[in-house]
Amino acid sequence: MFTIITGAQFGDEGKGKIVDMLASQYDIVARFQGGDNAGHTVVAEGKTYKLHLIPSGVLFDARLLIGPGTVMNPKILMDEISMLADNGVEVTPTKLGIDAKTSIIMPYHIALDSLRESKRSVKIGTTSRGIGFAYVDKVGRDEVQMADLADKSRLLRKIEEIAPHKEAAIEELGGDPGIARSGLDEYLEIGKKLKPYITDVSKEINLALKQGKNVLAEGAQGTHLDIIHGTQKFVTSSSTVAGSACASLGVGPKKVERVIGVIKAYITRVGEGPLPTEQKNEVGEHLREKGGEFGTTTGRPRRCGWFDLPLAGKSVNLNGYTCMALTKLDVLTGLDILKLCTGYELEGKQLDYPPELSDDVARCKPVYIDLPGWHEDITEAGSFPDIPENARLYVELLEELMGVHIAYVSVGPGRKQTFMK
Ligand code: IMP
Repeated sequence: MFTIITGAQFGDEGKGKIVDMLASQYDIVARFQGGDNAGHTVVAEGKTYKLHLIPSGVLFDARLLIGPGTVMNPKILMDEISMLADNGVEVTPTKLGIDAKTSIIMPYHIALDSLRESKRSVKIGTTSRGIGFAYVDKVGRDEVQMADLADKSRLLRKIEEIAPHKEAAIEELGGDPGIARSGLDEYLEIGKKLKPYITDVSKEINLALKQGKNVLAEGAQGTHLDIIHGTQKFVTSSSTVAGSACASLGVGPKKVERVIGVIKAYITRVGEGPLPTEQKNEVGEHLREKGGEFGTTTGRPRRCGWFDLPLAGKSVNLNGYTCMALTKLDVLTGLDILKLCTGYELEGKQLDYPPELSDDVARCKPVYIDLPGWHEDITEAGSFPDIPENARLYVELLEELMGVHIAYVSVGPGRKQTFMK
């Protein structure tokens, strides 16, 4: 069975938690896009693990794969491997495989990301991890790949070719051109350590599927941050939708059995860009404080707002979800009235689907319906009938309006705080 999980909003939907919950049923968990701009928090046995690169299934027996469509900062990966080892979780080459073609985030990518962002008149609010510039080099065919890191002469040959262009670009943006050749010794040392982890991800996954094994493709960021279909230019630099898992992991689309969308009971966004239902008031404060809505990667406060059905409907289309996981329902507890955005108003017209252009999305005025809230604590609920009637009505209405079954509901960060609906 091949399952894909993606975020249905702007990232931070709680994918890590859902992957962690499902991982015991899978033989392989694979990351297919993004890099350490992602941050997933897994809470298990009283310990909180904040991961950026290693797939969320790390605490189970599943084999973990980092696919060639990702961009990988080797220093961050080494930090994660040692943090996990300190907590008794050994990430050996039997446990983790990294595709030979995975793009490496070099120090110059990180410098260029920050320098370029500082010069933008309209900021994107990137995570400053060098993600966009690593992808630019992949598309521009100037990337450094995992295999290069493990082969000194290959890496040095490539850098010799690439460095003059990076020096010029960094200098033009007012940075230190020395960065273009910096950090190579450290990267080569890491390359030696990571060499045994190198694998052919597509080959491994296809073989596993032929043997009847279960493979879970774990998305990072969220649908509306997709480089093609998202709210450009306020997006990340990779394709975050489900189809990208097939292309990036090298698996045929006919192999896909389940596509799970993870969606919060409200909406958040970190960084710039349109967010029609944003609440810059006490409701936004409630969601941020109760939901712990601060970025895992950057610590930035997330922008918070009411559930946005037009955006959710677009996610259903873009991903073809077969079911959804609704997360953080408990965060809504204590609000007297819940507003649900069922459409937008733009230039006197009513819309039930987001306009294509970001500028237009930014001008949309949300149209809400009011729903009654609840005050009972739901964090101990173990099944759907355990939650108050108003909470059940909210979930059932979302399900009906999105037209996709909500299979899982999460009511807290812990492993036991998710039930099947
Ligand atoms: P980049 O991915 O660092 O280039 O950042 C581009 C945009 O995507 C910024 O608005 C980031 O805040 C956002 N972004 C990137 N990764 C994540 C994520 O994992 N969760 C939420 N937002 C993200």
